[in-house]
Formats: sequence, C-alpha cells, structure tokens
Amino acid sequence: MQESQVDMTVFEAILAKRCVRSYTAQAVSLDTIHILLEAAAHAPTALHHEPWAFAIIRDKQLLKDISNCAKPLFVQELQKTGSTPGCLAEPDFDIFYEASTLILICSKQTGPFMIADCWLAAENLMLAACAMKLGSCVIGAALTALNMPDIKVKLNIPEEFSVIAPIILGYPSGDTPPSPRKKPLILTLTS
Ligand SMILES: Cc1cc2nc3c(=O)[nH]c(=O)nc-3n(C[C@H](O)[C@H](O)[C@H](O)COP(=O)(O)O)c2cc1C
Repeated sequence: MQESQVDMTVFEAILAKRCVRSYTAQAVSLDTIHILLEAAAHAPTALHHEPWAFAIIRDKQLLKDISNCAKPLFVQELQKTGSTPGCLAEPDFDIFYEASTLILICSKQTGPFMIADCWLAAENLMLAACAMKLGSCVIGAALTALNMPDIKVKLNIPEEFSVIAPIILGYPSGDTPPSPRKKPLILTLTS
C-alpha cells in the first residue's frame, strides 16, 4: 500500500489512534508530511482565520538539544504543582521518544479561537497520520522550551509566532495498547 492510500474510516481512525511513545528509525517522507499538513489545514477555523503555521524538525541533534533544554524546565513546572518528574529526571530520557519528526503548529494571531483552531488542526493531522499507519503523540512537556526566544531562533520561527501544538511523528515500533476511557458524561439529553 502506498503511504498516501488509506483504508480506514474516520471513526476507525479515532478509535485506533494511540499516543505512540516508541518508534522505528524509519524517516517520514516529505510527501507524507505534506499530506498531513494538508489534513491539518482543513480543520475548522473560526472566522476563516486559518491561523496556523507549521515548523517541521527532522534534525536528530536539534531534537536532542531541544529535549535536553525542555526536560529541566518541565521538571520545574511539575514540581510547582507537586507532581513527580518520573522518567523526565533521567539523563538519557528523550522527551520526543526518539521520533524521527517533530511538527509544531504555530500561530502569530491572537484572539479567542486561535488556540482552538490550532488544536483542531493538530487532531486532524494525528488522525490522518493514524490512517497512514504512522504514530504520533502530543508533547506538551516541550511547550515552554519551544517558546523560548533562543529555541525559536534555532528553529527559524519568527518572534511573533507562538508554538501551540507540538506533535511527534514516526513509524511505531510495536503496538500501543488502548488506554481505557470513561463513558461520556451526559449532563443533558433533551427530547
Ligand atoms: C495537550 C496534551 C499534552 C500532552 N503532552 C504529553 C507529553 O508531554 N508527553 C507524553 O508522553 N504524552 C503527552 N500527551 C499524551 C497523553 O498522555 C495521552 O493522550 C494519554 O496518555 C492517552 O493516551 P492515548 O491518546 O493513547 O489514548 C499529551 C496529550 C495532550 C492532549
């Protein structure tokens, strides 16, 4: 099957999509990345603003450097909330799980809906990735580091842009078991 061919319904992809934290070394082709960006850019968008912009990082050393910068920052954030850092405190732990690709959904816009738009684009991208047999995971733990001015300079992200949604991407090595979900809490169901 070609990477661009999919044989999953949207609902099947929603149910199949897992946060993948173990990847093979296989790179994601640029063609595939462009298809995923197309899926992201078809997300609903308030007032037709289409506020998103994308940064794609595939340089292993750069990913490692960002991971090393992000870990202590996120450990500090966790400590403020009384949470334990777990594997984040381990020197060799890679916050990006050695995924070959990191996609950042960014925006320079402000306003009440920009963040919602970018996260809708993120979910479109991750569902499309799942349908193409790719794994993905949001890495919120890297967000503070990714918005630091010196990191943005390294990533060629102009100062006026904020990173909203960091998503790793790659080919899963093995299966990720489903994580159970609560039944939907229905507050009202009118006739
Ligand atoms: C906003 C957001 C931030 C997240 N940040 C991280 C993260 O930093 N590291 C990580 O391993 N997973 C992260 N996740 C993934 C969640 O932990 C994951 O969705 C959850 O474990 C449920 O697993 P599933 O999506 O495979 O069902 C994040 C998810 C969201 C929505």
